[in-house]
Amino acid sequence: MEHFPSTVLQNYPICEKYYCMRLLWPDQYPAPLPGQFLTIRPPAGTRALLRRPFAVSSYSKGDSTIEVIYERRGEVTRYLSTMQTGDQLDLLAPLGKAFPAATEDHRPVLLAGGIGMGPMFFLAEALSALDRQPLLLLGARDASLIPDIPILEQVETIIATDDGSKGFHGTTIDALVDYERSGTVEKSEYFACGPMPMLSALAVHAENTQRQCWVSIEQTMGCAVGACMGCVIPIHDPKRYARVCTEGPIFDSREIVWT
Ligand SMILES: Cc1cc2nc3c(=O)[nH]c(=O)nc-3n(C[C@H](O)[C@H](O)[C@H](O)COP(=O)(O)OP(=O)(O)OC[C@H]3O[C@@H](n4cnc5c(N)ncnc54)[C@H](O)[C@@H]3O)c2cc1C
Ligand code: FES
Repeated sequence: MEHFPSTVLQNYPICEKYYCMRLLWPDQYPAPLPGQFLTIRPPAGTRALLRRPFAVSSYSKGDSTIEVIYERRGEVTRYLSTMQTGDQLDLLAPLGKAFPAATEDHRPVLLAGGIGMGPMFFLAEALSALDRQPLLLLGARDASLIPDIPILEQVETIIATDDGSKGFHGTTIDALVDYERSGTVEKSEYFACGPMPMLSALAVHAENTQRQCWVSIEQTMGCAVGACMGCVIPIHDPKRYARVCTEGPIFDSREIVWT
């Protein structure tokens, strides 16, 4: 984990509520891995105290940049959406555990729900670079929340919307079941980030179909470095609770007690 200043290189809307921020990531800092996140100190000009966590959604070693996709939600993200090229941010990064390597001879199936898309785009980018041909299922409430972003053209993608305004009409899990029913039977492994009901439904589906399933949990955080216990979730382990910030945010879905 490193603490360093970074410069905003680009910051632009990619759909109705989401923005993409491109930041300088100097080469002397450890390369982030898919699934890892960073925290941003609330910029001067906001009254917020706690650092805010965001997943890395892309990394380019050649350009020394990362991207973060964020939803304009509360005080800090509203402020972030107004930041300009050249503005400075204070980062702690990279944080948390990364997704494990995808199992050889299994197709990596990536499920992204809503703003959980960031880490899945990064994983899709990394798997494509290894020629692992991921399948990406991207679910949103409606077409206005599907971003215009190059990765969706670069990997095989199925879009699902709850209201059917774009792509498959139904949830991401409905789209997955439909794909598995109509597609060729293949060995696959799931990687997912999104709302808890989506992750918990996927965990059940993975159990029923005997597939490995890795989930990224976005829990409200305090310190984000393992000190405050503000981010714990119940797990099937004698310890009973795990800190999402340091033991996660990536978990085997069978580890978690889904409530
Ligand atoms: C590991 C991790 C990765 C994350 N990655 C991303 C990302 O890539 N893009 C992104 O937009 N957001 C991400 N989040 C959520 C992000 O941290 C919050 O949206 C952000 O802190 C909101 O700050 P704010 O000051 O704008 O809103 P606040 O005023 O703090 O909150 C606004 C609303 O958002 C809710 N909220 C705040 N934090 C969370 C959270 N962690 N999960 C769910 N709801 C929350 C609050 O309950 C409130 O209703 C991530 C969170 C975690 C823990
Ligand atoms: S946020 Fe403090 S321990 Fe995880």
